[in-house]
Amino acid sequence: MVGAYEALILGTSTWGDGELQDDWYDGIKVLKGMDLKDKVIALFGCGDSESYGDTFCDGMGILYEDLKDSGCRFVGAVSDADYTYSSSVSVIDGKFVGLAIDDMNESDKTERRIASWTDLLKAELA
Ligand SMILES: Cc1cc2nc3c(=O)[nH]c(=O)nc-3n(C[C@H](O)[C@H](O)[C@H](O)COP(=O)(O)O)c2cc1C
Repeated sequence: MVGAYEALILGTSTWGDGELQDDWYDGIKVLKGMDLKDKVIALFGCGDSESYGDTFCDGMGILYEDLKDSGCRFVGAVSDADYTYSSSVSVIDGKFVGLAIDDMNESDKTERRIASWTDLLKAELA
């Protein structure tokens, strides 16, 4: 199924203490077993920066780590400048590896964040 697509958009909440959403545990094994060379992957994650500021959206970073050596190309990294958090494994050099959404504390920013991100994806996929 995945083989039919050039680009994949993958998302996860962060559960527990910086863990991947349970639903992903089987799915990530399937993806890791596939040939993802030349696939384009965009990631998004949902988290809570106020209650879980030291593991904010870590699940998205776990997906990134699991897939980064697969030969795929990631698109849609987002600056962390607009977020308040202490630590996140999904941030590399000041950018989230995808779109971080915090609908618990910053729901007023969600629509604009998604709109900016989809514009970014369109530009990076063009
Ligand atoms: C028990 C529990 C643990 C959580 N752990 C984290 C966490 O480590 N990092 C984070 O950013 N958000 C964490 N969250 C917040 C969720 O990721 C956030 O509320 C998410 O949007 C939930 O969406 P869902 O219920 O649709 O999966 C946690 C929430 C709960 C209830």
